[in-house]
Amino acid sequence: MKIGVFDSGLGGLAIARAIMVRLPEYDYLYLGDTKRVPYGNRSQATIHQFVGEALDYLFNQDCQLIILACNTASAEALRHSQQHYLPAKFPDRRVLGVLIPAVEAAVQVGNADRVGVIATASTIESGSYPRELDRLSPGVEIYSQATPLLVPLVENDGLKYARVILEDYLAPLREAKIDSLILGCTHYCLLKDLVREMIDCPVISQDEVVPEKLAQYLDRHSEIESKLGKTGDRSYRVTDLPPGYVDFVRRLSGEELNLELVRI
Ligand code: DGL
Repeated sequence: MKIGVFDSGLGGLAIARAIMVRLPEYDYLYLGDTKRVPYGNRSQATIHQFVGEALDYLFNQDCQLIILACNTASAEALRHSQQHYLPAKFPDRRVLGVLIPAVEAAVQVGNADRVGVIATASTIESGSYPRELDRLSPGVEIYSQATPLLVPLVENDGLKYARVILEDYLAPLREAKIDSLILGCTHYCLLKDLVREMIDCPVISQDEVVPEKLAQYLDRHSEIESKLGKTGDRSYRVTDLPPGYVDFVRRLSGEELNLELVRI
């Protein structure tokens, strides 16, 4: 069986590729819902519906474990998927998100009392980051900032405009004297170097933390790990092939990938 990696679009490729580098032996199926991206400004009901359809697709394609690489999907639908969807439909499969690994990394940094997070409007609106942080490390203060201009900027090769926009978004976080900053969105992995130049605290980028957390999870859960195929097979599927995707995929994953168009 495979490890599925789901994202609302192509941004999750940055996390998927980092996972594949850390854990190359497993078989992977990436699904990007490029037809309906972005999720980041949609309602919770719509995100639940889209994530449910993606999970149905990936589980029916023989995935044992699915990583919701999309922060918006993790924030809005992970809990629901684990508590309601899986028990009803696929009780022996698993869904994991990317918020908890990021939160764990953020609080492990020195004596982090003040954690900042930047993410899409839906992720911030969901309150999931403060909830997870409070669960893990009660008393730590969280400073959240919705940064809706960043996804379109990254998608449209607009990194040269990022500094001025980030300057604005990071100002309140700098003022709050945060001790660490979570980049709470797939696409922000591409901005990590710039953000690190611009803010004077450790910056948590999910491509750097999720692979190790997944490796630890698989070590702890031999009942899941033993079911995974280990032929190094990879497939990349999308629900639409938008113009410019070849360039974007190269920027995200560092190589050209064969994307297969599917209906979910
Ligand atoms: N993948 C989304 C996330 O990580 C960003 C793109 C979107 O808004 O769908 O939040």
